[in-house]
Amino acid sequence: MSNVVQLEKRGSVGIIWVDNPPVNALSQAVRAGLASELRRAFDDSALTAIVLACRGRTFIAGADITEFGKGPLEPPLQDVIRALDASPKPIVAALHGTALGGGLEVALACNYRVLSRDAKCGLPEVKLGILPGAGGTQRLPRLIGVERALELIVTGEPISAARALTLGIADALVDGDLADGAVRFAEGIAQERPLPRACEKPARLSEPDAAAFFERAEQGALKRSRGARAQSRCIQAVRASVELPFEDGLRLERRLIEEALDSRESAALRHVFFAERKAAKIPDVSQDTPTLPVNEVAVLGAGTMGGGIAMVFANAGMNVILLDREQSYVDKGLEIIRKNYAATVAKKRLSQSEMDARLGRIRGTTRYEDLAGADLVIEAVFEEMALKQEIFGKLSEVCRNDAILATNTSTLDVNAIARATSRPEQVIGLHFFSPANVMRLLEIVRGERTSKPVIRTSMQLAKRVGKVGVLVGVCYGFVGNRMLHQYYREAQFLIQEGALPQQLDKVITDFGFAMGPCATSDLAGIDVGWRIRKAQPKPPPGERYSGAVPDRLAEMGRFGQKTSAGFYRYEPGNRTPLADPEVEAIILQMSQELGITRRPISDEEILERCLYAMINEGAKILDEGIALRASDIDIVWLNGYGFPAHRGGPMFHADTIGLAQVHDQVRAFEKQHGKVWTPARLLTELAERGGTFVELDARRAQQ
Ligand code: CAA
Repeated sequence: MSNVVQLEKRGSVGIIWVDNPPVNALSQAVRAGLASELRRAFDDSALTAIVLACRGRTFIAGADITEFGKGPLEPPLQDVIRALDASPKPIVAALHGTALGGGLEVALACNYRVLSRDAKCGLPEVKLGILPGAGGTQRLPRLIGVERALELIVTGEPISAARALTLGIADALVDGDLADGAVRFAEGIAQERPLPRACEKPARLSEPDAAAFFERAEQGALKRSRGARAQSRCIQAVRASVELPFEDGLRLERRLIEEALDSRESAALRHVFFAERKAAKIPDVSQDTPTLPVNEVAVLGAGTMGGGIAMVFANAGMNVILLDREQSYVDKGLEIIRKNYAATVAKKRLSQSEMDARLGRIRGTTRYEDLAGADLVIEAVFEEMALKQEIFGKLSEVCRNDAILATNTSTLDVNAIARATSRPEQVIGLHFFSPANVMRLLEIVRGERTSKPVIRTSMQLAKRVGKVGVLVGVCYGFVGNRMLHQYYREAQFLIQEGALPQQLDKVITDFGFAMGPCATSDLAGIDVGWRIRKAQPKPPPGERYSGAVPDRLAEMGRFGQKTSAGFYRYEPGNRTPLADPEVEAIILQMSQELGITRRPISDEEILERCLYAMINEGAKILDEGIALRASDIDIVWLNGYGFPAHRGGPMFHADTIGLAQVHDQVRAFEKQHGKVWTPARLLTELAERGGTFVELDARRAQQ
């Protein structure tokens, strides 16, 4: 008898309970337990039906990802599934929580499935760079039709219990106690024969031309996945459910998953999965640190950022006060929020009643006294230290002593802002990324005096509002923008030396970013950086200046998409960037003015200079303790800047190239381009001893 899987007899029904916290993953012990308890239930002649259910917060949430890459551990999941397929007695899977991946595949091999009303189920394997590998690609199309199965498998998105019932994944939904309901269901069908088995049905495709259907699916996947292979493998496997007998389909699925498990893409995506969860853990802020209640949030500044932040909290059910200096600014901010919600309603992604409820939670004001009841205040005004300090001084006067006082600054010194208050321990940076209601990243900036309860509350709050919170330290630009600065610098130097925006952006999008740096500048507005640079001292003579081309474009009124001209030109009402001969002429002229003889620049050089500039800065950030882990830097770049997830983030990507190789090339760039390329001390150290960032993180975690 196993500890994690146990058979309970309730009259003529045997309940096989899985109890493997936290998420009942299919570890070796669970697989072995399932195999043995199934045998016991089959052999017990007093049992006429079997229920498979789980203790704790969820039905089986999938294979145990920590076992991936560790070689086969007996028994394989396929053996358990084969036992389910061959069961002489009806088996009812009882699903609650999140029945995902291998968990749902186990359920699909049972004869019936009942779900609690709030259960979710899905096949998210594609998000780990693999495909359902326990028969899911062969059983699901046979159960619910090929089109619907393919959509579930290729997107990896979970569906609700109600949807599962409509699709035919669920046979019934259960109110009240799930095990009781499942037992009742099992008693009702105990004598029914033949037993329904997904594997015995044909896979139905509505479209007559299967080849054309799969071809289209493949083209769509190629477009969406930017070089990742998992979606294609999913399509290939589902195609087999139509074209091959069941057993042959299973064999193909097996071959594809083995290939996928060995891929860099899957290693990267598994890294991302665990990195995201590690980011939530702060070594010196323990799980029992008290937290502060946050129900009422105030946002200062009703501009684009402030409005977006207000929406984040209203969406999560919190009351929001939006403050600005003048009523007209408040009104304008509220109107933009209303329009944003209305656009989502028009796209049918939000109901009118939900929009009304969210809007109803946001109220505008111009009076600081109205902030007296706020649990959290987030300042999102211009990036101007004097203004921010004045505001934080006022907040000290009007806010409760235990209110969290946060700044959304993207560059300024959080400690200097904190010093403007009477309680620096309550001050923290909450750096949202634009558009705040869309981007997942939240940089949580810890000041030198920020208290642990404030840090822990902020980390938990990030999760509550659907963001990935990453704790960072104070420096110019924190983690994300500090690295972005280096990346953009190199992009502009490459343009000065011989590349054109379209070549540069293509290299970056071919690597997997959604947009290249020039198209992104056009989207964000070239004038934004131009105004910031104008306020800063010019670099000393002899030092290269990366702002030359964008400054010239901005001076000509080419601010980007909003003026239909920037690094590219744009047709009216169209956001597609088009190469512009006028820009090419400006660039050639700038090179001449800078005394640079243009040369052909290879795609390889573009990629290396853009990525290695970012990686080298990341190593400095890690060495200075601004980021706690290399994997935290990856999470920042994946969620805030569109770094391709299937590459794992910049630091993981550096590991896959090999740090010695990255380091040697950084040194070579230093020789060519000077001290901006001096390798980070930590990069040199790791390269010399053959280390990796992943190994460094693991070592530090043990200390
Ligand atoms: N294997 C191992 N550990 C897992 C796991 C899994 N499948 N799923 C979650 N965990 C761990 C997490 O790492 C975390 O551990 P720590 O507390 O040590 O950080 C813990 O369980 C709790 O996870 P979350 O913090 O994510 O908890 P949550 O309540 O927010 O979310 C969840 C729960 C929705 C199940 C989420 O964890 C999740 O999406 N898990 C992955 C599900 C998945 O991808 N399943 C498919 C696996 S691949 C597969 O099944 C292949 C196949 O075909 C056989």
